Amino acid sequence: MAERFTVTTPIYYPNDRLHIGHAYTTVAADALARYHRLREEEVFFVTGTDEHGQKIEERAQKAGTTPIAYVDEIVSDIRDLWQLLQISYDDFIRTTEPRHERVVQEIFRKLEASGDIYLSQYEGWYCTPCESFWVEGKLVDGNCPSCGGPVARLNEESYFFRLSRYAEPLLQHIDSHPDFIQPTSRRNEMISFIRQGLEDISVSRTSFRWGIPLPQDPRHIAYVWIDALTNYITACGYLQDEQRFARFWPADVHLVGKEIVRFHAIIWPAILLALGLPLPRVVYGHGWLLLGEQKMSKSRGNVIDPRQLVQRYGRDAVRYYLLREVPFGADGNYTEEALILRTNVDLANDLGNLLSRTTAMIERFTGGIVPKPSGDSVLRPVAVEAVRKATQSLDRLQVSDAVVAVFELVRRANKYIEEAAPWQLNRSGDARLNDVLYDLAESLRITAVVLKPFLVDAPHAIYRQLGLDSADAARLRDTAWGGLPPGTRVQRGEPIFPRIDAESIVASSAPADAAPETPQISIDDFSRLDLRVGTILSASKVKGADRLLELTVDLGEGEPRTVVSGIAEHYQPQALLGSQVVIVANLQPAKIRGIVSHGMILAGKTESGLQIVSPREALPPGTKIK
Ligand code: MSP
Repeated sequence: MAERFTVTTPIYYPNDRLHIGHAYTTVAADALARYHRLREEEVFFVTGTDEHGQKIEERAQKAGTTPIAYVDEIVSDIRDLWQLLQISYDDFIRTTEPRHERVVQEIFRKLEASGDIYLSQYEGWYCTPCESFWVEGKLVDGNCPSCGGPVARLNEESYFFRLSRYAEPLLQHIDSHPDFIQPTSRRNEMISFIRQGLEDISVSRTSFRWGIPLPQDPRHIAYVWIDALTNYITACGYLQDEQRFARFWPADVHLVGKEIVRFHAIIWPAILLALGLPLPRVVYGHGWLLLGEQKMSKSRGNVIDPRQLVQRYGRDAVRYYLLREVPFGADGNYTEEALILRTNVDLANDLGNLLSRTTAMIERFTGGIVPKPSGDSVLRPVAVEAVRKATQSLDRLQVSDAVVAVFELVRRANKYIEEAAPWQLNRSGDARLNDVLYDLAESLRITAVVLKPFLVDAPHAIYRQLGLDSADAARLRDTAWGGLPPGTRVQRGEPIFPRIDAESIVASSAPADAAPETPQISIDDFSRLDLRVGTILSASKVKGADRLLELTVDLGEGEPRTVVSGIAEHYQPQALLGSQVVIVANLQPAKIRGIVSHGMILAGKTESGLQIVSPREALPPGTKIK
C-alpha cells in the first residue's frame, strides 16, 4: 500500500464565479483525497487559482480596479464555495503568491541554462476568451476553432520552449506507462497528436503586463501555461522544501477536464523532463457536464450555480449527484430533475429508509438495543463484496462505479428486510430476529464508513443514529464485519434525507389529509411566515407542465412577483386575472421548470377540487395577513 497520495485539480481562472462544472472536478478530487485518508495514507490534495493573463487584466480594467483586487474577491468567493461543499484541500495555491513567482522565475532560469528556451518571433492569431494562440491553418472561417469567436493578429517577440525535443521521450514514456493518460480514449488521442509532430511553443508575452516577468528579460511575461502548470510543483515544495517535495512529488493523479488533457499530458511532462523531474503518475481527463447538448461554460453563459443547489437540496445531495450520475470519464447531461430523482431514490428512499426502518425496528423489538447475533450473517458477504468493489473502483479512478458498489449493499439490505420480515420473527419469538437486526445495523455502519469519501454529513448522521460516536475516526479497516458492539443503544433521529417534493413550492401538492400529523407550533413559529395579499396581474400555462401556471402578482412592492403555482388543472389563466390571493412572501425562491418562483399561493384541496384562498373583500396589495 502506497503510504502517500497527491491529487490535484486544475487551478481555476478567477475571472467569474465558478459553476457546477468546476465543482464536478473538485468534488471528484475531494472524493479521491478522502478515500486515501480513509486508507490511512498521507494525502496532499491541492487546488487553487490561475490568476494571471490578459483576460483578467482586461476584466479588472473594465471593472475599474486592479487585477489583484479583482481576483482577490473572486478567490474568496471560490474558497467559500469549497467550504460549502466541504472540499478537504490541504493547500490552495494562487499563482500570484510570491512562493510561486519565485519558482516560475527559477524555472525560466533553468530552462534557459539547459537550452530549452530561446528567443524568436511569434506570429499567429490570438483568442482572448480562450487565451489561445492559433496558427493560420487552424482557424475556422477566420475564427477561433475552439469558441468560434473573433481572433486578433499578433506578431511579437517571444521566448519559445523546445517542445519538439520531447516528442520521442514522451511517446516512450506513454508506451512504458500504460496508466499515464486515462481513460484510454484520451491516451490514444494524445499518442496520435504527438505522432503528428510537436512544434515548439511560445511561452512568453510582451503584449500585457499582468503576469510574472522573466528574470533574464523582464520585458517578457511568462505566458499562461508555464505559469499555470508549474503550480503543482510549487505547491509540493519545489525549490522551497526538498524533503516535502520528495515526499509529495510526483503527483499520483492530476484530475482535469478533457479539454486540457493536452496541456497536462504533453506540455507539462515535457517541461518536467526538461527540468529533470519525475512525471506525474496519472493524468485523468474526465468528461464534461453538459446543459442541453452544450458544454456548460462561463463564456457561453449557460451555467448552473452550485451554491443555489446546495441551499436547496443540501451538500450531500449535490456531491452525490455529481459523483454518481455520470459514468466518470464520459460527458453527461445536467438536469435538476435528475438531481431530485437521485436524491429521492438513492438517498431518501434507499439509504434514508434503511436507516429509519432499522432503528425503528431495533427500538420496537429489542428495546433500542443492538442485539447480539448468534447465527450466520446473510449480509456479511454482501458487505465484504461492496467494500471490495468500491475500493477497487476508486483505485482505478472509477468514481461513479464505486458509489454504485456501495449502494448495492444498501439495496440488498432493504430487500433483506422484506425477505426476513423481522416483524414476523418478533411475533413468533424467533431467535433469528437478533441476527437480522444486527445484520441490518452493521451493514449500515459499514455503509457509513465507505460513504465517507463521497458524503460529508450522512456518515456522521448514520453513526449517531446507530448510537456510535462521530464517524470522524472511522477508517477503511473499520469496514471489517463486527465493528458495531452489541448492546449499543440506537438514537433514532430525523430522516437523514427528507424526500424532495419537486413541486414543493406548490401549496396544493400537500396531501389533503396531512393535518392530523402536523405538529403544533408556537406563535413565534407562525410569525416567521410572511403572508401577504396579492393581486394577480397575469397568468399563463407553463409549457410541458400540465399542473403549473406562471403568475405575476402585485404585492404592492412596485415590481410584481413571478410565482409558479400548481393550480392549472383547476383554473383557466384568464379567469384569475384581477383575483386576490394570499402569498407566502418570504419563501426561498425556487426554480420550477426553469422559472424562478418567488413565493407560494395558498389554496385548499379536497376530493372535489381546489380553491385558492382570497380575502372576502378586496384588500390593498401587500396587506399582511396575521
Ligand atoms: N486555468 C486553467 C487550468 C490550468 S491547470 C494548470 C483552466 N481553468 S478553468 O477555470 O477554465 O477550469 C477548467 C476546468 O474546470 C476543466 O478542466 C474542468 O476540470 C472544469 N470544468 C469547467 N467546465 C466544466 C464542465 N462543463 N464540465 C466538467 N468540468 C468542467 O482551464
